[in-house]
Amino acid sequence: MGADFGLGGRVAVVTGASSGIGRAVALGLGVQGVAVACVARDQDRLDAVVTELRELGARAIAWSADVRDEGSVDAAVGAAEARLGPVTLAVNAAGIANAAPALEMETPQFTEVLAVNLVGVFTSCRAQGRAMQRAGGGTIVNIASMSGSIANRGLHQGHYNASKAGVIHLGRTLAWELAPSGVRVNTVSPGYTLTPMAMRPEQVDLMAGYAADTPLGRNAQPEEVFGPVAFLLSDAASFVTGVDLLVDGGHTIW
Ligand SMILES: NC(=O)c1ccc[n+]([C@@H]2O[C@H](COP(=O)([O-])OP(=O)(O)OC[C@H]3O[C@@H](n4cnc5c(N)ncnc54)[C@H](O)[C@@H]3O)[C@@H](O)[C@H]2O)c1
Repeated sequence: MGADFGLGGRVAVVTGASSGIGRAVALGLGVQGVAVACVARDQDRLDAVVTELRELGARAIAWSADVRDEGSVDAAVGAAEARLGPVTLAVNAAGIANAAPALEMETPQFTEVLAVNLVGVFTSCRAQGRAMQRAGGGTIVNIASMSGSIANRGLHQGHYNASKAGVIHLGRTLAWELAPSGVRVNTVSPGYTLTPMAMRPEQVDLMAGYAADTPLGRNAQPEEVFGPVAFLLSDAASFVTGVDLLVDGGHTIW
């Protein structure tokens, strides 16, 4: 058994729950006794995560939504409230990444990444914040990236890095705007994490070097992002809002 974060009985919305970090967070919350609304695009993969959650004894629903579509984000949060109860926890992990040198990148490639990674986090936080206001309070963790603070050596992803810097600063802004509603908003910024996103063709060959450039000498497993997220969601972090918590094995100190 891992740590008990005291979250049992609460209801969470997790975007990007079908894969990687979002999936690990959804399953981790299920182990903590949280009821989880799993939100992403792919119904089949969401259904598989919900099956895993139910096998753990957790209440869970799968809700297919595209974070580029604010109506589907609102519907996902509404479904979580209707089927699981008042929403007081949210983790926004939905995101995409790709690469092209800045001087060759077409504008639609740039704006598409911003639409998912930054605007999608905004619309998700807005829907979740409204639900938490109805519930009398809550807490949100957005998954940004250390790429919001550094430019990744060898990866041509100005759009991605800009989106993640935006998520970090949006979090600071929402922290004060939502505080009167009893809602804390924080950011977790992972380093290189072994998920499908990190294994895409333009990145996979760089991963061994990134591990060597990390003080802990390796890249993260997605499950290692859960603990920091759970801490920020928990009452142990009751006076923590507007922070960006790096979970990078020390990568950004060098
Ligand atoms: N893997 C890493 O090294 C790393 C490092 C730092 C930050 N992150 C961030 O962590 C988050 C999760 O990434 P991951 O590595 O688990 O990737 P992943 O590709 O395994 O999972 C991404 C998830 O986002 C969902 N998603 C993508 N576009 C969506 C959309 N338009 N609407 C709804 N859902 C959508 C996918 O369905 C999937 O569930 C992302 O925000 C990513 O930027 C990843």
